[in-house]
Amino acid sequence: MRGFHLFALSSSVPLLASAQCPDYLDYAGEVHEPLSPGKYKLSYQRPPIECRTFKSQDLEDTITRMESVIKDPDLYRLFSNAYPNTLDTAIKWKGYAADNAEEELTFIITGDINAMWLRDSSNQMQSYLPLLDANSEPNSIASLYRGVINLQARYLLTSPYCNSFQPPAESNIPIAENPSASEDNVFPVYSNASVFECKYELDSLAAFLEVSANYYDATGDLDFFGKFKWVQAVEAILQVALDMMTPTYGDDGAVLKSPYTFSRLTRRATETLANDGLGNPTGNGTGLIRSAFRPSDDSTIFQLYIPANMMFSTYLASTAKIMGKLNAPNAASLASRMKSLSESLQDAIEAYGTFTHPTYGKIYAFEVDGFGGATIMDDANIPSLLSAPFLGYPVDRQTYKNTRALILGASNPYFMRGPVINAVGGPHQGPGMAWPMASIVRILTTDNDDEIKVQLGELLSSTAGLGLIHESVDSFNVTHWTRQWFSWANGLFGQMVLDLEERKPGILETSFQ
Ligand SMILES: *[C@@H]1O[C@H](CO)[C@@H](O)[C@H](O)[C@H]1NC(C)=O
Ligand SMILES: *[C@@H]1O[C@H](CO)[C@@H](O)[C@H](O)[C@H]1NC(C)=O
Ligand SMILES: *[C@@H]1O[C@H](CO)[C@@H](O)[C@H](O)[C@H]1NC(C)=O
Repeated sequence: MRGFHLFALSSSVPLLASAQCPDYLDYAGEVHEPLSPGKYKLSYQRPPIECRTFKSQDLEDTITRMESVIKDPDLYRLFSNAYPNTLDTAIKWKGYAADNAEEELTFIITGDINAMWLRDSSNQMQSYLPLLDANSEPNSIASLYRGVINLQARYLLTSPYCNSFQPPAESNIPIAENPSASEDNVFPVYSNASVFECKYELDSLAAFLEVSANYYDATGDLDFFGKFKWVQAVEAILQVALDMMTPTYGDDGAVLKSPYTFSRLTRRATETLANDGLGNPTGNGTGLIRSAFRPSDDSTIFQLYIPANMMFSTYLASTAKIMGKLNAPNAASLASRMKSLSESLQDAIEAYGTFTHPTYGKIYAFEVDGFGGATIMDDANIPSLLSAPFLGYPVDRQTYKNTRALILGASNPYFMRGPVINAVGGPHQGPGMAWPMASIVRILTTDNDDEIKVQLGELLSSTAGLGLIHESVDSFNVTHWTRQWFSWANGLFGQMVLDLEERKPGILETSFQ
């Protein structure tokens, strides 16, 4: 199931798995020479050229250019392993829709799991935003983006409450078994022929808007959005958003039917919802949208998950601009609904998504329930509170500053400290496990040079010599980590280094030896 295959890039039919190509799941957990010449002696981790899943000359040129920009040899090795990871390993299939020979489709796996997450695939593409420009060729980064947007639109029109999906039928890739989901009790029902897992997460919907806005802003390719199913997919998203504003009780106290319920047979509390699939009760009148699960795929404690509301608000505003320029009969009214929902969400976040903390003052809450209850913490996965400015959400500066002070220290129940790495973690891997992704986001959201250098140093020294960004690392034991093949986090590391090149080039001259 987790085989590492070689695919033809220009045809819609995958080649047979090559016996010469290693399974990247094994490859990423092993050390390959030549090691980097610095004190960390980092492994080389790119698969052999003939085994890479997508080739881009712009990518290779970027990696070559950075060799003279990044002065530390270990940091350069980490960058050159990590940045290409999605293109090298995760473009599982690229082709065209069976019913429309012009409709590009791109199936991107998350890495070690053979399925496409809406959130991961949008973010996996986001790392290549610096390389994206208008290009109609099928071997271009732009083509990959179009394929992701089209396939996500198809997924959203099929099962708008789900988070992770199976390969498209056109790919002839067998669907992946998901034993943990096989006894899930989910409403609305879905088919496992197209869905890998059906956890409703507001940020998955926002991820579709994000990849759409990123593509449009970089290419100006308006025509694309009118050609296929983009408008209908946005309508489906707006319907879910509206439905998921339903509170638990009506005005008369009657329990309202929830548009989504989920329960699973499991030993982990975070893998199922309270109240037999309803989740904890949500009050009326906040104007916020519920999310059953977090971007970690763990259940929310309180459903009004603030970071996803921030992200959804941001990208509704940017995609409303695309919608407003389209000629579809309902485009103008959809654009105005998107814009007004974006604005009302921002008001709702500022009015109901904050909390006055006895030590830190006014902060953003992680989750609220609309009854006065709030979860005070942050989790590493994006969208997080830490990432709010990176998402483009117009934070209240003082509130964000206070929030940041809380979440980057012992007052955050999921901030991990220790000799190996100090970073936000989360319930997904539990106490003790810090997430490098959160260190990356910390760099992306600060101007403080010393803070950036400390984070870079910890990222560099905590790969256990493997030279890839792991999902989580034990803050007391560098050889104890999770997920050797987590494509998104690797791409994000590269994106952060390229951002530093623009913003603070001097830092890339630092020696970490
Ligand atoms: C899909 O669901 C059917 C019916 O529940 C089940 O028999 C089958 O094994 C499932 N397939 C996969 C790949 O999980
Ligand atoms: C929620 O509150 C609004 C007023 O804030 C009211 O108009 C609406 O009927 C309420 N909805 C439910 C389901 O109670
Ligand atoms: C560190 O983690 C490794 C890998 O999980 C484990 O084998 C080792 O026992 C751990 N070391 C300590 C001191 O706990």
